[in-house]
This record gives sequence, structure tokens and C-alpha cells, in this order.
Amino acid sequence: MNDDTPDSMQELADVLQDVRRHLLWQEETAGRSILVDAKVAAELQQQRAAASSVRTMIARTKAPEPAAAPTPPRPPAESPSRDTLHAAMKQPLGAPRPLAAATPPPAAPRAAPAPAPAMLLDVPRSAPRYNGALPGVVEGERPTLDQVRRELGDCRRCKLCSGRKNIVFGSGNPRADLVFVGEGPGENEDLQGVPFVGAAGDLLTKMIGAMGFTRNDVYISNVVKCRPPGNRNPEPDEIAACEPFLRSQLLAIQPKVIVALGKFAAQTLLRDTTPITRMRGQWREYEGIQLMPTFHPAYLLRNSAEKRNAWADLQQVMKLFGKHPGSSA
Ligand code: URA
Repeated sequence: MNDDTPDSMQELADVLQDVRRHLLWQEETAGRSILVDAKVAAELQQQRAAASSVRTMIARTKAPEPAAAPTPPRPPAESPSRDTLHAAMKQPLGAPRPLAAATPPPAAPRAAPAPAPAMLLDVPRSAPRYNGALPGVVEGERPTLDQVRRELGDCRRCKLCSGRKNIVFGSGNPRADLVFVGEGPGENEDLQGVPFVGAAGDLLTKMIGAMGFTRNDVYISNVVKCRPPGNRNPEPDEIAACEPFLRSQLLAIQPKVIVALGKFAAQTLLRDTTPITRMRGQWREYEGIQLMPTFHPAYLLRNSAEKRNAWADLQQVMKLFGKHPGSSA
């Protein structure tokens, strides 16, 4: 780089400016963004290499450092508007879709901050996050469900392993747009190794059908993967041992919507102790994914008056998918 004409120096200064903004953006988001794809990891690596070679070039030319423009604050992460989601959800289930991505900062002229790369899944600062390494995740890459299942292995991480017949990992479409999360396997699920196949499962299957889906369209899993003895509630240490696997499953699937069935699913995913009676029917967000808390089907079997409320919650989900009660579309 021997061309020290004023134009080339200005161009270099501009590049430096962009690189700075990008590095600042990366620094700012480092604690709250997660990589979602291997390709993405490679792209990020390339960007870092490019940034580093530009730095070297600049150091060699000894260009005067331009005064750094103040970096405007990043707008707070927002949930996509209902309308945006509604349009997005009209894609047919199972159709290839881009990875979930951050809403980039508004497009701006040169002086504005560089747009956030679309490859990062933005996590709101206030969102609870799992602090350890997620099972199945290698070097920040999005895992596959198979990888997560392999990592779970013949799990002995909590005392539920001693009474189980089968680990109930989950079932359905690994690329589902809609995921249902229950509490934990019961007797039938334990015997078959498949979630929601008993009485509560029959009701859930009907609910899914009434929403215009089949069990093969969606993915179904639980907070704990082994049956608590006598169908008791899962205990905190059991939830703590199993929860990372649920989070990895959701990272692998990256659905558009999660329906949390009952208090254990809603409270665990959201890290919120609000009773399900108050949480249900209110859209929430889990790691950038829309989450609808509702009643557990087993609870609905005991309290049929609440079915009406649960149906209202599921209708909100249907609306996001462009589905209407009575239509099979
Ligand atoms: N209840 C649950 O929460 N999960 C199942 O898989 C079955 C019943």
C-alpha cells in the first residue's frame, strides 16, 4: 500500500471507521448473541480475518487516525411485530427457511453504525440464559437433534435414571416451526419412549389437530426426559440436570413458536415463577422465539372448564401461522 494520495488515505480512513464500528458492535453484543450455524461461524471467522488485515494495512500506511464517531446506542432488541410474524408464519410448514436472525439496526447512511450481521440470533439483554456450554454444541455451532441425543446418551445425570424404562427424548419434525414442551413422561411414555401417548397425550394430539397440524408437523418434548416415579412433579435438581438438553433441542430445531404446556415448561424456559394461571395466554419470548404459555393437557382433563381458555391460547398461535379454526389450511 504505497499510494498515499489524499483520496486513498480518505478511503482507508473510511474503511477503518467501518471496521471500528463493526468491532465495537461485536464487543457490545458478545455477551448476548449466539452463533446459529456452522456456515455462519465460518463467515464470522472470515470477517475477523478481513478486519485484522485491514488493521495491518492501516498500521503500515501510518494513516492519521480519524476522530472516532460516537457509536449510537443500539436500539433495544424488540419482538417482531405481530404483523411481521403473521406474514412470516404464512410460509408453509417444513418449507426451507432462513435461520432466525436478529432484527438488524435500521439501515443508515455512512455515519450510522454498521448493520448487525444477519447471522447472529439476538438475545435480549434481560432474557435469562443458560450459562454453561449447551450439550451437543461444539464451538458455538448450532447442534443437530441427533448430536443432542448422542450427548444425552444413557443419561445418569439425576436420580430419575434409576426408575425409568426409557428415556423420552422427543418426537416429531426436527425442522418444526411449532414445538410443544410438556413436563415429563408418564407411565405410557416411559414404556414407549415417546412423549404424550397416554390420556394427556390423546388430548394434546386432538389439540394439535384442531389447530390444523399433525403430530408429524410439530415437535413434542418435555422438561425432563425420564419419568418421575408415580408421576410426581419433577424436582429442581432433576429439572436442572435435564434443562440444558431441552435448550439444546430448541437451539437445534429453532422453531418459530413454542407452546409451553403447564407451569413446569413455562417457568423453566422463561425462568419466571409467575403462576401458569397468570402467564397463560400472554405472548412471551424465549431466546428470540415466540412462546405461548398455556395449561397442561393433564390439567385440562381434570379441569375441563379451562379448556375454553386453553383453546383461546392456541388460537393465538394459529393466528400467527395464518390458520383459522375450522379451516384445514
Ligand atoms: N405429560 C407430560 O408432561 N409429558 C408427557 O410426555 C406425557 C404426559
